[in-house]
Amino acid sequence: MSQDTLIEIIRCATLAPSGHNTQPWKFALQGQTVRILPDFTRRLPVVDPDDRELYISLGCALENLRLAAQQNGFQSLIDYFPAEDSDCLRVKLQSEPTLPADPLFDAIARRQCTRSEYNGKPVPPADLKRLVELPLEADVSLNIFSEAGQIDRLVEAINAGNRQQFTNPDFMDELITWIRFNEAEATRTQDGLFSRCSGNPTVPRWIGKLFLKMSGADSTVKSDEKKVRSSAGMAVIATQADDRAAWVKAGQVYERFALTAASMTVRNAFMNQPVEVPELRAQLQNSMDLGAARPQLVLRFGYAEEMPRSLRRPVNQVTA
Ligand SMILES: Cc1cc2nc3c(=O)[nH]c(=O)nc-3n(C[C@H](O)[C@H](O)[C@H](O)COP(=O)(O)O)c2cc1C
Repeated sequence: MSQDTLIEIIRCATLAPSGHNTQPWKFALQGQTVRILPDFTRRLPVVDPDDRELYISLGCALENLRLAAQQNGFQSLIDYFPAEDSDCLRVKLQSEPTLPADPLFDAIARRQCTRSEYNGKPVPPADLKRLVELPLEADVSLNIFSEAGQIDRLVEAINAGNRQQFTNPDFMDELITWIRFNEAEATRTQDGLFSRCSGNPTVPRWIGKLFLKMSGADSTVKSDEKKVRSSAGMAVIATQADDRAAWVKAGQVYERFALTAASMTVRNAFMNQPVEVPELRAQLQNSMDLGAARPQLVLRFGYAEEMPRSLRRPVNQVTA
């Protein structure tokens, strides 16, 4: 494989979503092997103290890498945290010229987390079937909810999560650290949550900080509930185990969901508050009848216009 192809495959991997757009990954290249490593300098100790969402983000990047490799005629042989190299996801790229391209590849550049209000239209049954039946990883489940009672229970959990998070000064400080309030901040760092991507105006940092601190939990509770109720449905991704490998596999399944949705212009966005607050996570497992499966991700899906795209750091900043 040429160096240019390898770099392009890594670039596709970096287009994956990550918590607060921290892009908490490093890619170490050794011949035809790519090692995906966590970048712990980019962890989120308040919202993600166990690095659970950090590893989910690595799973999203792994899925993009696998699809981009396949597009270039390479199969990915994946070792999850091999004993002799236990920090990494080790991907051996093996030439398979007859491998058909996966149609999901084309959606990598189109996928985004669309945080706006949706238009309330349902997803037609044939498209919903494609989402429900997408290939899963072992011990990972994708649970789709659209009945009124189920949505009410999810709204209750999201509201409770927002109330806890938006009244926690440490959560707010961490969030503000990763918000890019204007063009200059966003282009300098090429990471973080660019306010324009969420439909907010770009402002000087001090104004954005002041506004966020003054707006309080109630306005977020209200606007998130509206966003959920404008969606066609919700999904919870859950896993039997609750360890690094399970988190990575949950990320792979999420990315497959997001790309499948994007290929049908179905938008999605996370509402992870109920899995980020420990006691709410346990309650959600019961209220949504997940049995022994641990909820990992909560999301909504539906139809809306595309929003401005979030930025990524260039490949040379994430390769070792
Ligand atoms: C594990 C994980 C958790 C996330 N949690 C949230 C969340 O709770 N709320 C939210 O609005 N976005 C959440 N995001 C979305 C990221 O903020 C988003 O992926 C990032 O800003 C990059 O934007 P993009 O996905 O549109 O490319 C999460 C992403 C990942 C991978």
